[in-house]
Amino acid sequence: MKIIQVEDGAELSKRAAALIIEKVRQKPTAVLGLATGSTPKGTYEELIKDHLQNGTSYANVKTINLDEYVGLPSENPNSYHYFMRENLFDHLNFTKGNHFIPDGMSQHLDRACQAYEELIRSNPIDLQVLGIGQNGHIGFNEPGTPFDSTTHRVQLTRSTRKANARFFDHFNEVPKEAITMGISSILQSKEIILLASGVKKAEAINRLLKGALTITFPASALNKHDNVTIIADREALSYELNPQHF
Ligand code: PGA
Repeated sequence: MKIIQVEDGAELSKRAAALIIEKVRQKPTAVLGLATGSTPKGTYEELIKDHLQNGTSYANVKTINLDEYVGLPSENPNSYHYFMRENLFDHLNFTKGNHFIPDGMSQHLDRACQAYEELIRSNPIDLQVLGIGQNGHIGFNEPGTPFDSTTHRVQLTRSTRKANARFFDHFNEVPKEAITMGISSILQSKEIILLASGVKKAEAINRLLKGALTITFPASALNKHDNVTIIADREALSYELNPQHF
């Protein structure tokens, strides 16, 4: 795994955006795998700035998102459909119909998962953006998820629901279930960039870099992929310097 060390979240966003922009310029029909959460927000802002200043075009780009809550309609501000429209899709010149996000409102969730997996296999992702959970989750693949998992339904752990509760009025409103690309689905991507910012991610990044493969730490599966770049800021890489703080 390649590591790009940056100073802070602002620099992280610029570096990540530069990689995405380069990909889209090289391949205007690129398929981008996208993530939600606090970490990629700044990256999306940089893509928007670049689009306005330099005219990078997304007209022929497809996007496939990692995950979505079950039971939140797309108008709900906490749904990932809403997040993506607000933070990215509405600001770039994407072509309608080129965005894919799991359908957490489907009456047939298992069938929706299968269809999503087929979509990923028939539209191979050129560049996948990932965040990392404090427990090592990628997408909503919680500890214990098999490495050969495909798109599936998950029961969210209490720790993930607590981490995400900051966006909701009450903890009880945080959905208990989600649909996520599986680990095998993520590993199909041709290239992966994992973004980590802040001291809260330091322990997870340390564990990822140590490299032991274990399903108790889902991100460790990335060690099986040959084109992963971690972009992490100083705090996220601080574990080695101050292990006594953790
Ligand atoms: P965050 O989420 O970017 O909001 O920290 C990352 C994740 O949980 O995958």
